[in-house]
Amino acid sequence: MQPIRYVLVGLGNLGRRFCEVIVEKAPLLRERYDLELALVGAADSRGAAYDANGLDPARVAAIKQAGGSVADYPGAGRAGWGALALVQAAEADVLLEASPVNLAQGAEPGLSCIRAAMRKGMHVVTPNKGPLVVAYRELHDLAKANGVQLRFDGTVAGGLPAINLGARDLRGAVVRRIEAVPNLVTGYVMDLLADGVAWDEALARARDEGVLEGDGSWDLEGWDAAAKLVILTNAVANFPATLDDVQRDGITGVDVAVLTAARQQGQLYRLLARAERQPGGDYALSVIPTPLPLDHPLGRLGSKQMGVVYTTDIYGVITAIIDEPDPIPSAMSMLRDLLDIYVESVLQ
Ligand SMILES: NC(=O)c1ccc[n+]([C@@H]2O[C@H](COP(=O)([O-])OP(=O)(O)OC[C@H]3O[C@@H](n4cnc5c(N)ncnc54)[C@H](OP(=O)(O)O)[C@@H]3O)[C@@H](O)[C@H]2O)c1
Repeated sequence: MQPIRYVLVGLGNLGRRFCEVIVEKAPLLRERYDLELALVGAADSRGAAYDANGLDPARVAAIKQAGGSVADYPGAGRAGWGALALVQAAEADVLLEASPVNLAQGAEPGLSCIRAAMRKGMHVVTPNKGPLVVAYRELHDLAKANGVQLRFDGTVAGGLPAINLGARDLRGAVVRRIEAVPNLVTGYVMDLLADGVAWDEALARARDEGVLEGDGSWDLEGWDAAAKLVILTNAVANFPATLDDVQRDGITGVDVAVLTAARQQGQLYRLLARAERQPGGDYALSVIPTPLPLDHPLGRLGSKQMGVVYTTDIYGVITAIIDEPDPIPSAMSMLRDLLDIYVESVLQ
């Protein structure tokens, strides 16, 4: 069969790991799905590379692991070549878009790359929340108008198939409530604070372990959880929520004495993202540090676990939890989405 040609934008935690793991997975994809994937283009912040005959994902990963740019890729790389220009020039079937959220910059370059890819008939897979938060409905309409698919399971709770479960497997239900702990670092930090670790030390540990990046405000002030809740509410409840609809409180003002007292009473504090269906059919959205009793479905989450609970009218209460000690499950959500597009049915 013809290989599926893909372009990968963003070669950081997720993009680089995807390149590493996809090499190992190639034999399984061939045997199980009769599927061959060919990386034809890749971009990072410094440049891009393109080869219609295929780039070697292991080589791309090695260049990134060594701190280089894909612009250094021998014979195919070009410094200063932007991701959007690459997408526009590439002959490819699917775009994997894994650049930063960049909400302050209008979710660029992800948003423009996704639009451009769909307009030229490419499917899109993205774990990047930014474009979906900014233009959820527009991107879905664009996908439909161009006869392509847009998949974004990795945008919420890393490798947890929260969106797939809610949007696909709850078909026919009214989702009365969504409760999620979709952000790892806030739970990790609150657990450390309850252990008696000082705030600065807790943040330093989170940074050392790679779960907190930059100045941390995106995560700690609840923006990340709010963005994920907006995507979940759109995708699962089919309700056009935006960031402005979220009542948001982060963990920066959390009182350590309250955390300690809650733990003594057997409660677990987590930054809970919640969408509650109202009598008229709207949803009320909030992201608030919340004490969860042990008998709550998310009340026993570990420090590096995330989860989602769907309360429905006909399928009962469904909970899914992931233990994600490293970003590989998040990176491989892109493979899951890609297979969803190209493999017709998982039922044999
Ligand atoms: N990390 C996770 O666990 C996780 C989980 C789920 C979803 N996500 C989402 O997935 C996306 C990628 O996350 P990540 O952790 O891999 O981020 P990351 O480690 O910061 O990597 C971002 C990548 O994008 C590249 N980039 C930055 N600006 C660019 C531009 N203008 N054009 C082209 N490439 C550009 C960077 O280039 P350089 O290599 O040159 O710096 C880097 O390769 C984000 O949207 C994130 O929210 C992440």
